Order: sequence, then structure tokens, then C-alpha cells
Amino acid sequence: MLQQYNPKNADILVHVNGVLLSRKDAKVSVFDSVVQGGDAVWEGLRVYEGGILCLDRHLNRLHESAKALAFSHIPSKDEIKKAIFDTLAANGMRDETHIRLTLTRGEKITSGMDPRLNQKGSCLIVLAEWKPPVYDNQSGIKVITSSQRRNSPQFLDSKIHHNNLLNNIIAKIQANAAGADAAIMLDERGFVSELNDTNLFLIKDGQMFTPYADNCLHGITRQLVIELAGDLGIPWTERNLSLTEFYNADEVFACGTMGELTPLYEIDGRRIENNSDTNITEKLRNSFQKIIPKYCEKLP
Ligand SMILES: Cc1ncc(COP(=O)(O)O)c(C=O)c1O
Repeated sequence: MLQQYNPKNADILVHVNGVLLSRKDAKVSVFDSVVQGGDAVWEGLRVYEGGILCLDRHLNRLHESAKALAFSHIPSKDEIKKAIFDTLAANGMRDETHIRLTLTRGEKITSGMDPRLNQKGSCLIVLAEWKPPVYDNQSGIKVITSSQRRNSPQFLDSKIHHNNLLNNIIAKIQANAAGADAAIMLDERGFVSELNDTNLFLIKDGQMFTPYADNCLHGITRQLVIELAGDLGIPWTERNLSLTEFYNADEVFACGTMGELTPLYEIDGRRIENNSDTNITEKLRNSFQKIIPKYCEKLP
């Protein structure tokens, strides 16, 4: 499903390095590291009824990603929170909002790869838009498997949530060409890692399984799902999972901040058939909706 332009976002204000700018004026320099090399880290956050879901977990991941990339002048979590709260207040946003939070290595003194050319500190962007969850969580999605492998730590550690997204984008192009909603990415050994934009779970005989977070993003929604499964007494396991296990699962769902929990109804032309009559995805989705207020950090 292609996201559409929402005219409500025509006049939004965007925070760029301490200044709130109109949509048309919100820009970074052509010397910025994100232009020069995709050299930036990011988070996607959702605003629900006056709060931001798992704000601290997202800011921790942003900080850890920036540290791994040896950024200098990383804004503190309080500074980033203030930038987010100011942006939401300026736009009158308290619900139904998605925030794309980006921290670039900043502007370089001349074009080039070397981080020593960055002498002005990092650049923080808070882009908040009116946006509902992007997938249709009732009818679900169909996916194909991409030939593009997801990064493992030996190439580019997926524990770094970076803007160098080309491997995921190539997978998404393959999904588009096949008329599918998203693409499964395998790891370098051929096990399932995740979709190009969300984490994956399968249910078989009443048990929940998910791939190790070695070659996929250690998703914050993924972690919430695992915690919810514990609360609901659903047995769960992290392990290597093959495509055959996904084709033959009773239920498969994807999860992420931008789409919450989304069932998959088809993978590579195979229908997902529930032979155990379970409804664990639905139970988890209902519980997810219930715990949102508890996990939201209130807006001022
Ligand atoms: C590749 C990928 N997988 C999974 C996710 C879901 O992560 P989260 O639940 O933290 O939003 C994202 C979100 O950015 C992602 O880019």
C-alpha cells in the first residue's frame, strides 16, 4: 500500500538544528553527512493521545547508534526531548502523528567521507507528520522474499539504526515489482531476518517464534511483543527460522512503530493457513492497544 500525501501536512513546522522551519524551508546543507554518505542515525516514533510510545527506548537506541558511529557532540536525551516536544507543540500535534527523528553527523567543511571533515557538530532533525499506521492491520499484507540479504554484524551491524538504507530499499523495489506489500530479507546463511521495514514473528501450534536479532533491527515493537507474550503466557522462542517454517506457520505477523502489528496472509504465493485454530496475533494486537498508555511518555 502506497502512503499518500496528506494535505494536513502542507504547513507543518520542522525542527532543523534548533530552528523551527516551514516544510518548504526545512533543509540540510549539501555538505551534510547524510547527503554525502547516508551518515546519520534515525528513529521512527508514534504519538498516541498526548504521549510518545517508548520515547526513552527510542532515544537510547539513537544514542547507542550515534556512539557506535563515533559521532561527536551528540545532544543529550533531554535536549532531544525538548526539540520533539517543541515541534509537536508548534504543530498542535498530540495524536495520530509519526515522528521521523534524524541525527546526522553534521555539515562537512568540504565534500568527502572522512568524519574529521565534520567540524560543526551533529545536526538534529525532528520531522513530525499527521500519519495513521501505514499498513491495513485488518486485511493484512502479502510479501515476497527478496534476493537482497539483510546486513549481518560482519558487514554493517543492524544494531546501528542508520540512514544507509539501500539494502532495505532494494528489497522494497523487488516487493513493488512483484506487486507485494513488503519483502522478506534473509540473512547471509539463508535464514529469515525480517521484512524490509518491520520485524517478523510466526505462530505454530500455539507457540511464538521470532528470528534472533543478529541480522535484523532490534525493534522496540518486537521487544514489546515479546514482553506481552510473557504477560499472556504465550510460550516464545528466538531462533534461526527458515522460509519453510514461515510458509507452514499457523499465523505470521510483522511489527514496527509505523504499522503496529500486521498479519501476513501470503508469502511467495503460499497462503498462510491456520491449522491450529489459534488467534494469537489478535490477542497480541488487542493487548498492544491496551498497554499503549502505560508505555507512553506524556507530552508537557
Ligand atoms: C528494518 C526495520 N525493521 C524493523 C523496524 C521496526 O522497529 P521499531 O519497532 O523499533 O519501530 C524498523 C523501524 O525503523 C526498521 O527500519
